[in-house]
Amino acid sequence: MKNTILACMSSADVAAEVFRQLESEDFRILNIIESAMSKREFVPIEQIQKYAKLPMDRIQFTLGKLTKLSLLHRTQTAYVGYTLNYVGYDCLAINALVKANIIESLGKSLGVGKEADVYDALSPDAKRVAIKFHRLGRISFRQTRRKRGYSLTREHATWLFQSHLAAEKEFMAMQLVYKNGVSVPEPISQNRHVIAMGMIEGDQLSKYKQIAEPQKILREILRNVRKTYTKAHVIHGDLSEYNIILKPDGHILIIDWPQYVTTDQVNAGELLERDLKNVLSFFRRRFKVKVDSAEASDYVTGKVRSLKV
Ligand SMILES: Nc1ncnc2c1ncn2[C@@H]1O[C@H](COP(=O)(O)OP(=O)(O)OP(=O)(O)O)[C@@H](O)[C@H]1O
Ligand SMILES: [Mg+2]
Repeated sequence: MKNTILACMSSADVAAEVFRQLESEDFRILNIIESAMSKREFVPIEQIQKYAKLPMDRIQFTLGKLTKLSLLHRTQTAYVGYTLNYVGYDCLAINALVKANIIESLGKSLGVGKEADVYDALSPDAKRVAIKFHRLGRISFRQTRRKRGYSLTREHATWLFQSHLAAEKEFMAMQLVYKNGVSVPEPISQNRHVIAMGMIEGDQLSKYKQIAEPQKILREILRNVRKTYTKAHVIHGDLSEYNIILKPDGHILIIDWPQYVTTDQVNAGELLERDLKNVLSFFRRRFKVKVDSAEASDYVTGKVRSLKV
């Protein structure tokens, strides 16, 4: 594939495309570079050789191949060094999920958010799975990429660790709320910056101009916020019509959890109020359903047992 085509695709598209061309030696080199990147952004070729325990010509061949496929970026300043690109990081995560029998193949894009790409995938027993790639700091990455191909900035390494952290956080929150009966996609697995979860059907609430029984939907949302708060002791932290999915069966799901906080944190009250305000003002604006925010707050925090809607 031409590099010009690669440059126009999202990194997960490229990863899905090149993944099948990779062999175990390629993953060995990628793994070494990934580990060494906790200390330095560009890993010297000598260090790669030290850990790979392979002849230099084999290492150079592999590094050349991985750079051409845009999994790595090469620099030659004080020394020759290599750093992972998003495509390389994506491939490492996909490989781990394939080896763990979570997925067999990656399909097409389901949604591109501000801070993540979500893809369709198939499990070994032919079930559809959603794969969310966290992409923190992507805006600056895109600008950088436009300016200098796949080359990377100093923020790159932090970017990788931040994306990893976001996935870890989101997966932890999803597991916690899922086991407490909150309506979220089923959390299946997490590796590096990637989460595998149950595939969902439906659209963001923001896309619906009208719905059959808005009061009922609002009650269901608030019931879920209440469970999240009183049982899982968690606050979503970015709740809005964009992170609530309305399914074809008329029920809802709450998605996108990386910024969750626990109810004992100092700003918990503020974040809960903001989440409620987003949802209540959307329902007031779009569907003319009015609920008092103090009442909603007493309900979701368990101070009162029922809600008048
Ligand atoms: N489990 C899933 N199954 C199917 N599609 C999904 C799933 N999770 C997310 N999506 C799709 O991907 C989109 C983005 O997901 P999500 O909100 O989690 O990521 P995000 O990048 O944080 O989004 P944004 O920045 O727009 O809030 C969703 O609106 C939805 O269309
Ligand atoms: Mg979102």
